[in-house]
Amino acid sequence: MSEKKHTVSRRQFVVGTSGMLLAGALADGTPRAAETAAPSKLAIQGGEKAVKAAVAGKPRWGDPERAQLNEMLEQNSLFYWQGPQTKLLTERFQQFCPVKYVQTCSSGTAALHIAVGAAGVGVGDEVITSPVTDIGTVIGILYQQAVPVFADLGAGTCNLDVADVERRITPKTKAIIAVHLTGNPCDLDAFKALADRHKLVLIEDCAQAWGAKYRGRPIGSVGHIACFSLQNSKHITCGDGGVAASNDERFGKLLQRFGDKGGDRNKWGGHAVFATNYRMSEPQAAVAAAQLTRLEDIAAKRARLGNLLTEKIANIPGIVPHQVHPEDRAVYWFYFFRIRPEAFRCNRSEFTKALVAEGAGVSGGYIKVPLYGEPVFQQHAFFAGRWPVKEMGLTTMDFAQHKCPEAEAILASMIRVTITENMSEEYVLQTAEAIQKVARHYAA
Ligand SMILES: Cc1ncc(COP(=O)(O)O)c(C=O)c1O
Repeated sequence: MSEKKHTVSRRQFVVGTSGMLLAGALADGTPRAAETAAPSKLAIQGGEKAVKAAVAGKPRWGDPERAQLNEMLEQNSLFYWQGPQTKLLTERFQQFCPVKYVQTCSSGTAALHIAVGAAGVGVGDEVITSPVTDIGTVIGILYQQAVPVFADLGAGTCNLDVADVERRITPKTKAIIAVHLTGNPCDLDAFKALADRHKLVLIEDCAQAWGAKYRGRPIGSVGHIACFSLQNSKHITCGDGGVAASNDERFGKLLQRFGDKGGDRNKWGGHAVFATNYRMSEPQAAVAAAQLTRLEDIAAKRARLGNLLTEKIANIPGIVPHQVHPEDRAVYWFYFFRIRPEAFRCNRSEFTKALVAEGAGVSGGYIKVPLYGEPVFQQHAFFAGRWPVKEMGLTTMDFAQHKCPEAEAILASMIRVTITENMSEEYVLQTAEAIQKVARHYAA
């Protein structure tokens, strides 16, 4: 998406504040540091940087992981089935997400493929999901020879818009994958009601949402199946890994088969379903089990820092902060805010450059284009340049014609702010000051 001066789309940039509040926004009118700071020369023009605090370089692993790995080295088998590390990881996972069935696996992408397999998604079925996510959300759909149908997003959340999802339901729709983008919970009650009304399977993509809470309930515990990623950039990690989980007898019992070549490990053999090998080994499980002991601190800290940033930038004209429902806990895999193009004399790229010069950890956008804009979608070239379901007339989907206007407007106007548990409140306050300073400078 190219950026020209003042060309960021102005369409529908109305933030749907009904039923939503800006997380942590102050209501008493108390002046904030960011509001009262005297205007000063931008760092990009040779002025002093607004962000002077450093981010601590704390390691993400240490003694708990070492102890768990040492325990693992005493074992005779490093295979997951009935392995003590996998058992520990499963138990710890169930402590924070109370579901009966848990299948550890090799990645978040694998967890999502396991989920659509267990949901019975097959040839020509449709699965509605977000176009602004990691491609791993839809890889499993395509491998099941099913069709991802991209719905549009809510303006302030970057999460699926329930009404647009409903509009895209057809007799072929089998499931919805609700992506909790950046760790901000989707409106799960609304999605669950919609899924139940249309007899669809609701899959939660929690890859970016470890430790998030929807109306006080742990993320992953509301939909029919939940999927998590343990890839290196996530809140907790074992390098690469994933978890598929369910409380529903219909799908939960199938997770193990779809993660492990279709066989039921409780009864030797019996390949009643066809699936690939997505197993996680014991060394990975050992690290992931240890990492889970850190999760609550990481999630709580990120939630606090992200909400603090919202509180400090909520009243800056032209800035639309990350919208979080006041009863939810967003865990900010990253934070984003949008700029209203008409409010500034610069475009998103210039705004971002000025912030970087101030020392803020920001970048423009997230993924470059919505998933349907990627070449492999535009050319329907999923299987050695071909897409059998389209060639067989099982779908009329044409990704080259697909449009999600709000998703495109979000990607064109969002500025991404890095949030990590190693940041201090002072650092976040200075980031807010940088945003205030740049916004004032470029105010239209
Ligand atoms: C929202 C989302 N879904 C799915 C995935 C896929 O996870 P993995 O990289 O572990 O395969 C990711 C990873 O970035 C993600 O962010």
